[in-house]
This record gives sequence, C-alpha cells and structure tokens, in this order.
Amino acid sequence: MKKQLFALLFALVPFVALAAPLPEQPHSMTPDINDKESLQRGMQLYVNYCMSCHSLEHQRFSRTAEDLGIPQDLMEENLIFSSELAYNDQMHIGMQPGDSENWFGVAPPDLTLFNRIKGSDYIYSYLLGFYRDPSQPLGVNNNVLEASAMPNVLEPLQGVQEMVCAESDRPMDGAELDPLTGKYQSCEVLQVTRPGSMEPEEFEEAMYDLTNFLVYVGEPSRLQAQAMAPKVLIFIFIFGVIAYLLKREYWRDVH
Ligand code: HEC
Repeated sequence: MKKQLFALLFALVPFVALAAPLPEQPHSMTPDINDKESLQRGMQLYVNYCMSCHSLEHQRFSRTAEDLGIPQDLMEENLIFSSELAYNDQMHIGMQPGDSENWFGVAPPDLTLFNRIKGSDYIYSYLLGFYRDPSQPLGVNNNVLEASAMPNVLEPLQGVQEMVCAESDRPMDGAELDPLTGKYQSCEVLQVTRPGSMEPEEFEEAMYDLTNFLVYVGEPSRLQAQAMAPKVLIFIFIFGVIAYLLKREYWRDVH
C-alpha cells in the first residue's frame, strides 16, 4: 500500500512542477476572448507588425476570420499581405528559419501556442517592456527578457522608451526607500521620453488587444466551447427530466 502511495506521489511530480507559476510580471491583463472587436484590432496589429517574423503555424486565416466575424473578402483584401498565401492557408511567414537565425541570432518563435507556455501577463509585459539601450547590438533591450534579440518594431507607435531614475511615494520595481526623503527611488523605471503616434494609454490598450489575440490563437476552440456550453446544459437538463419520468414510470409497477 505504501509503495503504491509513493508511486502515485511520484506520478504527480511532473504535474506539480508544470503547474508552478512563472515569476510575477510588471504588468498584468485579464484576457477576454469574447471581445471580438479587441481580437480584430489585435489581429490587425499582428499582421502589420509581427507576422513578417512570427508565424502562427497552427492557425488558418479562414478559421480566424470565422471566429472573429471578419468577412472573407475583407480578410483577403486587408489582412493577407503575401501573394503566396490564400484564405484557407495556415498563417505562415515568408522568412526561412535559417535566414532569421542569421539576422537575429535567434529564430523568432512561432507564437500560436506561446500564451500556453508563458501566459498573457508575460506577453503583455514583454510588449510594454522594450527600451533603448546603447549597450545592446540593436540598441534595444527588454525588462522582461534581458538582452532580447527582437528589434523594437513597436517604437513608431509607443515612441522612444528609456530606463530612467525616478522617485515615488509608493513602492515600485527595483526601488529602495530613501530614509532622508521618505520616498522610493529606482533607476529601473521605464518612461516614454519621445512620443510616438499613440498616447501611452492608447499604446497599452493596443498591446492589450494584441495579447488578447495571442491568447485566442492558442485556444481557438474555447470560443466555440463557450458558445456550445449553454446548449449542452439545456440538453442535460431536458434529458434528466425525461430520465426521471421514465424511472417513475418503470418503478410504478414494481411497488
Ligand atoms: C523583425 C523580426 C521580428 C518582428 C517583426 C517581431 N519579432 Fe518578436 N521576436 C523576434 C526575435 C528574433 C525573437 C527572439 C528573441 C530572443 O529570444 O532573444 C522574438 C521573440 C518574441 C517573443 C518571445 C519572447 C520570449 O520570451 O522568448 C514574443 C512573445 C514576441 N517576439 C512577440 C512579438 C510580437 C507580438 C510582435 C509584433 C508586435 C513581434 N514579436 C514582432 C523577432 C521579431
């Protein structure tokens, strides 16, 4: 009996290890994959700013269009840029993994299942975490993924973000309390020092939409499952009533 108990405990170890949460991220977001407008905006950002490097191999344009309520002609005209890609194709990119590895040192990962690995807080924080850093080969760094090889393709939208020193009455990232002033001081504060085409709040909303879209592509069937759930419950309820009536009918003769 003891042996079996140990075996069971060992069998559970990988699940416990996998369930271990990632370290806390500087920003957090609550995804809402029922917000189709947010998903549509997210997809638009994705095909414009990310799809030149990151594929979504496990997702088809057609499936996305149906789930997000985008008509086929709109999708073909505005969201499929490569002439080699068709409506029913998977969301490939033109770049060969070998090429991109030569250019960036690391191949940009496929992002279909990325949310399942790292979670939405991570993606959201990563997208908000780029800042200018002259010590890096591309002049850019990221406060979530140190020395990230990804160029900051979002800079025209966000503006130039830099890591600066700042003071605050409240605790913040990497801050220490100065006993003289009673304020928290940190030299790891990210601040937009030259504006981009979006206001900071607007940029955060755009990154919310983009992250929301990446949550959806990781679990496209969840949208369908959610739509189906009430129907299944109604079915179970009606079936339960019928089963109960039948049971009453059968047992009437037994008593
Ligand atoms: C010019 C090519 C390029 C573009 C465009 C690009 N990326 Fe990347 N991305 C990369 C590379 C290269 C890496 C690998 C970084 C590393 O591991 O150091 C990466 C990594 C990532 C990662 C994983 C980070 C990690 O922790 O491993 C995410 C998430 C990501 N990119 C999201 C995006 C999103 C969203 C967009 C669109 C706004 C985008 N990328 C646009 C090249 C690109």
